[in-house]
Amino acid sequence: MGLLDNKVVIVTGGGRGLGRSHALTLARQGAVVVVNDVGCSVHGEGTDATVAEAVAEQIRVGGGSATSDSTSVTDHQGVGRLFRRTIEQFGRIDGVVNNAGIVRPNELLTAMTERDFDAVLAVHVKGTFNVLAHAALYFQRRWNEGDRSGGRVVNTTSGAGLRGSPALSYSTAKAGIAALTISAAMQLRPYGVTVNAISPVARTRMNPGAFAPASDAHAPGVDPLAPDHASALVAYLLSDAASWLTGQVLRVDGNVVRRYEGWKVGPRAYQGRGEVLEADELDDALRVLYGVLPVPYLDPANPRSVELPGVTET
Ligand SMILES: NC(=O)c1ccc[n+]([C@@H]2O[C@H](COP(=O)([O-])OP(=O)(O)OC[C@H]3O[C@@H](n4cnc5c(N)ncnc54)[C@H](O)[C@@H]3O)[C@@H](O)[C@H]2O)c1
Repeated sequence: MGLLDNKVVIVTGGGRGLGRSHALTLARQGAVVVVNDVGCSVHGEGTDATVAEAVAEQIRVGGGSATSDSTSVTDHQGVGRLFRRTIEQFGRIDGVVNNAGIVRPNELLTAMTERDFDAVLAVHVKGTFNVLAHAALYFQRRWNEGDRSGGRVVNTTSGAGLRGSPALSYSTAKAGIAALTISAAMQLRPYGVTVNAISPVARTRMNPGAFAPASDAHAPGVDPLAPDHASALVAYLLSDAASWLTGQVLRVDGNVVRRYEGWKVGPRAYQGRGEVLEADELDDALRVLYGVLPVPYLDPANPRSVELPGVTET
């Protein structure tokens, strides 16, 4: 018995790196895998349908069930056709893994072209939207027809987007995917669909080892950059057992998994002297908020310039 017996799952970017590892792991767990990959270079150039097919073939040779597809996730209508073909062939879709990604070599604000910026956003953000949008239509229709199977979506974000990095378009795109994950989870929860994101670290052609995991908690013998750790998490998030968890971002760093806790309003607040904040009262106030000045610097003549409890986020 596998965790995903007979589940039909689409993995984008499933031909190489993390996506390939996900596809092989999901197949070992019993899933029927649709390996999607356009087969481009790490910078998003060119196409090669054999990249996806090689992984599908490897799964079939190992006794699993898989098919391949070379649609670019940037093609909204093409993704729609991929969904229709999958449903025609296998009768259903249970989960999707948004993993396809590219990087551009020059991320400097003063050198990056508009075309490069658009290309990175197109694969990561629009690609994730395209798959999510078709998944939402399909899962909602199924629910409204009385089928309570629900559905599973796993997106791929990155520490670059969540903690910030100088990689301009990549960080923007990955932060966007985290936001898409939360919005989609809220919208799809009533239909039994969970939407989560992983933030992996793995040795692939995109990251040949330059960015080592931050964790030093790995046991001896653990390869912290093996993609298999992230794939195990993806398999769990796609399973029936994971129905309780949605709208979350999980960091998988070698064999260590952590929850990401996002932007939070801090506990310290400055409340202005009058009905409207004035620019000239903010210099000391902001330095106190950021710890540059000690708290006693808050205006002693202003009884409201204290730490305020109960901040409400909007
Ligand atoms: N490797 C890491 O350490 C790391 C860290 C954080 C996030 N990620 C993310 O993980 C995902 C996989 O990255 P990887 O390291 O395995 O890279 P990779 O380059 O090895 O694999 C990416 C795959 O996506 C495919 N692809 C690219 N554009 C596509 C498109 N438009 N349509 C369909 N397929 C497309 C490529 O052909 C390639 O096979 C990416 O989203 C990446 O941003 C990777």
